[in-house]
Amino acid sequence: MANATIENVKKSFGDVEVLHGISCDIRDGEFIVILGPSGCGKSTLLRLIAGLEKITSGTIKIEERVVNDLEPADRDIAMVFQNYALYPHMTVFNNMAYGLKIRKMTKEEIRNRVHKAAEILELSELLNRKPRQLSGGQRQRVAMGRCIVREPKLFLFDEPLSNLDAKLRVQMRLEIRRLHQSLNITSIYVTHDQVEAMTLADRLIVMDKGFAGQIGTPLEVYEKPANKFVAGFIGSPAMNFFDAEMAGDGKSIRLSSGEGLQLSGEGVTETAEKTVTVGIRPEHFVICDENKAQIHLRTDLVEKLGADTLVHGYFKDNGDALTLRLNGIQHFDRNNLLPMWVAPENVHVFNQQSGDRLN
Ligand SMILES: Nc1ncnc2c1ncn2[C@@H]1O[C@H](COP(=O)(O)OP(=O)(O)O)[C@@H](O)[C@H]1O
Ligand SMILES: [Mg+2]
Repeated sequence: MANATIENVKKSFGDVEVLHGISCDIRDGEFIVILGPSGCGKSTLLRLIAGLEKITSGTIKIEERVVNDLEPADRDIAMVFQNYALYPHMTVFNNMAYGLKIRKMTKEEIRNRVHKAAEILELSELLNRKPRQLSGGQRQRVAMGRCIVREPKLFLFDEPLSNLDAKLRVQMRLEIRRLHQSLNITSIYVTHDQVEAMTLADRLIVMDKGFAGQIGTPLEVYEKPANKFVAGFIGSPAMNFFDAEMAGDGKSIRLSSGEGLQLSGEGVTETAEKTVTVGIRPEHFVICDENKAQIHLRTDLVEKLGADTLVHGYFKDNGDALTLRLNGIQHFDRNNLLPMWVAPENVHVFNQQSGDRLN
C-alpha cells in the first residue's frame, strides 16, 4: 500500500503536448479511475506512472519518493493491460509464479503467495490447468493473480475489461471492486466506460484532451460537474443542454420558450454574460400538476425500455429539443403538452464560451 502524488505532469511526443499539466494526490488504499474519451491521454498518464514513458516535466512520487527517473521494475507497481497475455504452455500456477521466480524468491514463499492469491481469486481448483482450459473471466483473474502475488505498492489497470463480453464485464467489475476491498492496494484504473468508472472509483479523474476536467468522487462529479464537458460525459442519456438568459439577480434563468427556472442557493453570483448554457439531466424532470408547472414539454417520440421510459420532445413551443427519463413504463401520445418541474439544485449553469460551471 502506498500513497502517490502526481504534480503538474506534462508529456509531449515530439513537439505535440498530449498531457498539459495533471496534478492529483492519491491516498493510501484509494481506488482512482481515470475516465475520458479515446485519445484524451489516459493510457499515457498511466504509462508515465508505471515508468513505461518518460515524463516531459513535473513530478511523480510513490510514498514520498520521486520516481521520475526510476525504471518500471524499481517502482514496486503491477500493471494489468487490456491484452493480458498469459503464457499458453504454462499452468495457472506457473503463470502466477513466473514473475516471482525471476525475482529469485524461495520456492516456499512462491507457493505461499500463489496459493493465497488463488484463494482470493477463487482459482485454487484450477492451478494445474493451462490457459486454453479456462474461460475468459478465469483468464482475466489469472492475469490479476500474477499482479497480486507481487504484493505491489500500486496497482495499475489499463482498460482490463474491454475485451470481455458485456455480461462478463459486469461480473469482473464487481470482482475487481471486491478484490480491492479485501486487499486495499492503492489502484489507478483507466477506462472510457462511465458505468465502470462510477461503480469502481473512490475518486475519478475525468480527462478532456490532456487536461483533468474534474477530480472528485463519483457523486460530486455527477451532482456538481465542474464544466460542460464533464457534465455531458457523465450520465446516460447525456445531460440536456440549452441556451438561456440570466435574470438580473442571478437566481433564475429564462428559456427560449419564455418559461423560467429557479436556481438553488446564491444562484450565479459572478458573471458578465447574460446568455448562458443550462444543463438538466434527463432523470431530473418531474411531471407535475399544471398549477405547479414551471415549464412544458411537447412530446415527440417515446422509447419504452422496460425499467424506464425515455421521452423525447421540445420545450413549448418549438423550443430546444430535450430528453426525459422516467421510471417504469409510461405511456404518452405524441404532441402532448406535459407540465414539468425541476428542483433548483438540478439546474446547472455553464459559461457559454468556456463551458465552466457558474452556479
Ligand atoms: N508513442 C506515442 N507517440 C506519439 N503520440 C502518441 C504516442 N502515444 C500516444 N500518443 C498520442 O497521445 C494522445 C493520447 O493517447 P492515449 O494516452 O493512448 O489516449 P487514451 O488512452 O486516452 O485513448 C493521442 O493523441 C495519441 O495519438
Ligand atoms: Mg488507452
